Amino acid sequence: MGDGPLVGRHVLLGVSGGIAAYKAAELARELIRAGATVQAILTQGAASFVGPATFEGLTGRRAHVGVFEDPHRILHVRLAREADVAVFAPATANLLAKFASGIADDLVTSTYTCLTCPVIAAPAMHTEMWEHPATRANVARLASWGVRIIGPEVGQLAGGDEGPGRLSDPGEILAAAAQTLVTPEPDGSLLAGLRLVVTAGGTREPIDPVRYIGNRSSGKMGYALAAEAQRRGATVDLISGPSHLEPPPGVSVSHVETALQMRDAVVALADKADVVIKAAAVADFRPVDYHEQKLKKDTAALASVILTPNPDILAELGARPHDALLVGFAAETDLEEERGREKLHRKGLDLIVINRVDMADSGFNVDTNRALLLTMDGRRREVPLTTKAELASVICDEVEALIRMRAP
Ligand code: C5P
Repeated sequence: MGDGPLVGRHVLLGVSGGIAAYKAAELARELIRAGATVQAILTQGAASFVGPATFEGLTGRRAHVGVFEDPHRILHVRLAREADVAVFAPATANLLAKFASGIADDLVTSTYTCLTCPVIAAPAMHTEMWEHPATRANVARLASWGVRIIGPEVGQLAGGDEGPGRLSDPGEILAAAAQTLVTPEPDGSLLAGLRLVVTAGGTREPIDPVRYIGNRSSGKMGYALAAEAQRRGATVDLISGPSHLEPPPGVSVSHVETALQMRDAVVALADKADVVIKAAAVADFRPVDYHEQKLKKDTAALASVILTPNPDILAELGARPHDALLVGFAAETDLEEERGREKLHRKGLDLIVINRVDMADSGFNVDTNRALLLTMDGRRREVPLTTKAELASVICDEVEALIRMRAP
């Protein structure tokens, strides 16, 4: 057991009835490993997927399903009061709908309406349900009340379907729970009140209306950074290439597709920003010609697409007079320090995050990453495999350290 924020804290784990309920058992185990005590409560639907005995075995506490199991002690009120953080995973469309309208017709929903601690909901459902306007409205309503919505991810769903709707990995949900329990610095975060521009995702460089040149970036790192900076009180402008991710609540998002559009969006906001973090994987080249009509397979123009370099947005910001702190990323197939250091200086950056993109658990389209952070003043910090949410927190800590050093 480490000395992380979950040690000795009490987590209420609410489980609702989806196939992903089995992953809640894994989450319970991970929370216990991280030093928390876990109180599981289940809807009737959840109990038909995974029985209370599984959670009791993992948590060492009785897992409750019914409101009247302990009528003398008003179970839902007591459970809510005991919690330092409440995590609902998986949260079905039905559960979100009940939460959003204050329905309290079973133990899980009754307990939710009594909570005063931070609340996290990790939705999981079929894509159609997730995208239904009712669910969208319910999620937006919950987010506006401060509920942190984690995921869902794009991936394989029940019945072999694929799309947004898969429960986020237990590690990511745990990291979000831990984050809510981190004691803020006594005088608050140095990011509070600052303006941050964060770029995320990859760019797409069109060849014709159908085809484009792109890369595997999912946007997860940039979105995690935007969420973390916003949590620390910054005003965040997220400039995102195409991504399936839900924008973090409270963050203003501009959607772009190409490197040139991203450049314009960044340049328009950079002058007013205190920090620019470029987590986006910008395509290095774009096709010289864009064809208005779809090219036929046998067209010569398709056999050899002529490319031209895209502007280096970060280098451009670094080369001109600027007050903003500049943070860049370097996606490498090893943690190549020399190349990263060279990029740090050449692009005029304050901090570079070198991350590995060649391993199954690190880089593009996964929830975890490992990285090496180098600063212009010669500091070096290696971050072993961790969640992108946790890495975002480390990066924000480093940005705060740079701000502290700049202060007169
Ligand atoms: O040179 P390289 O592509 O490895 O640099 C990566 C860093 O530079 C990232 O922070 C990326 O967002 C930024 N970049 C950029 N414009 C480009 C290419 C990369 O801002 N055209």
